[in-house]
Amino acid sequence: MVVDNSQGEDAALYEMVYASLAEHAMDEAELRELLSRAREANERHGITGLLVYHEREFLQLIEGERDAVKRLYDAIERDPRHERVDLIWEGPVRRRSFQHWTMGFVVPDGKDLSELPGFEPADTPSLAAVPKGEPGRRVLMTLRDQLIRKDAPRGG
Ligand SMILES: Cc1cc2nc3c(=O)[nH]c(=O)nc-3n(C[C@H](O)[C@H](O)[C@H](O)COP(=O)(O)O)c2cc1C
Repeated sequence: MVVDNSQGEDAALYEMVYASLAEHAMDEAELRELLSRAREANERHGITGLLVYHEREFLQLIEGERDAVKRLYDAIERDPRHERVDLIWEGPVRRRSFQHWTMGFVVPDGKDLSELPGFEPADTPSLAAVPKGEPGRRVLMTLRDQLIRKDAPRGG
């Protein structure tokens, strides 16, 4: 087990989850650029989390020391690459859920999405339909667990 004490054991950890709409459908190069800069900065600021992209929509969880998370959220909210930034959940947490990921990234398909907890089966599943509060947070945790399963070596 890896214990992350880089924030100091008593540092107050905080988490924020939001959904937004990209200003335009982003291609792979744009997403790659966004991610590599984000990961570099997150590493410096002790931020970890998960970014989900699905047909122009973003869903992101950021976690870390409270002030760093708040500051990042303010910057993200002002970023012209997306709009309708909608806060789904925020609050203190006792430990990180994404401690090994300076920013995990996933592009789920529609079927993956409609199977997530709290989602009503719909013809066009949308990240904007993520429920508010704790259920919205749980959506990210389910995606995390799916990712970990997909990464796990087969067999053995
Ligand atoms: C969907 C989305 C997710 C982002 N995620 C992060 C992130 O995790 N970390 C980060 O440093 N910047 C992230 N950014 C970029 C920030 O919005 C911003 O450009 C960056 O923090 C630099 O801000 P500054 O110019 O105010 O310093 C993201 C932007 C978008 C559109």
